[in-house]
Amino acid sequence: MDLQGLPYLLEPMAAAHVPTVAAIERRVFTHPWSLTNFMHEVEDNRFSEYLVLCYRPWIASGSADATRPRRFLRPLRRRAAEEDRSLLGYVGFWLMVDEGHISTLAVQPAWRGRGLGELLLSAIIGRAMERGASHATLEVRRTNAVAQALYRKYGFQFVGVRKGYYLDNHEDALIMTTDDLASAEYQALYARLQEALLERLRRADAAPPAGSEMEQHPPSPAPHAPED
Ligand SMILES: CC(C)(COP(=O)(O)OP(=O)(O)OC[C@H]1O[C@@H](n2cnc3c(N)ncnc32)[C@H](O)[C@@H]1OP(=O)(O)O)[C@@H](O)C(=O)NCCC(=O)NCCS
Repeated sequence: MDLQGLPYLLEPMAAAHVPTVAAIERRVFTHPWSLTNFMHEVEDNRFSEYLVLCYRPWIASGSADATRPRRFLRPLRRRAAEEDRSLLGYVGFWLMVDEGHISTLAVQPAWRGRGLGELLLSAIIGRAMERGASHATLEVRRTNAVAQALYRKYGFQFVGVRKGYYLDNHEDALIMTTDDLASAEYQALYARLQEALLERLRRADAAPPAGSEMEQHPPSPAPHAPED
């Protein structure tokens, strides 16, 4: 997806992102994956793929080379002592034969309602298509109406229930699946949604949430950072 002109960068999750991802995970989920789980996914599992979404305001203003963000972000990471507040969300999938199984999706609470969860979902469905998945599937808590609405928007339909699936409160998981991702109908839906999403993101105010740490200390490129 072409994010040109927007202050967001989607990139593959790397080991350096994992401490922040695990911190968000603990904040967002009642039965979180551990740092070790994520590290395994990123480093050892060749059938998985994870993306992170980062806030990079200088990309939108064209004031620095967006292709070398890691170097620019080192000072920011040090200041944040492990947690990088500019990492806004993450998503992942497992390729299981021809099925793209969405394994996780989360957006930092303060950044929700701006289309970023949708951006992550849309991007990972795109990656699943590129890796040959014929359909996408996932499990979602019965009570998670927000996520279900997002998944329905992207063509996921309820196909089954795993009774008492979640260990923390024995809540049911609803299984949701798309139709054939390569079908003309799905491709048309996907293209239409991507276009609408990009328009929404371009129209929206992309400033950090009021009162957030990011508003007080927005990330900026540090072109003189040592190459350590
Ligand atoms: C689910 C989640 C990723 C959505 O992220 P988000 O950035 O707030 O969502 P977006 O702004 O991109 O909204 C996309 C769609 O989600 C749905 N949605 C978002 N907020 C909603 C709300 N408050 N009520 C109902 N639907 C909502 C809508 O379908 C929306 O599309 P629309 O704007 O055209 O109506 C986010 O709420 C989250 O991280 N939740 C906690 C983790 C989680 O539940 N993950 C899913 C595990 S299966």
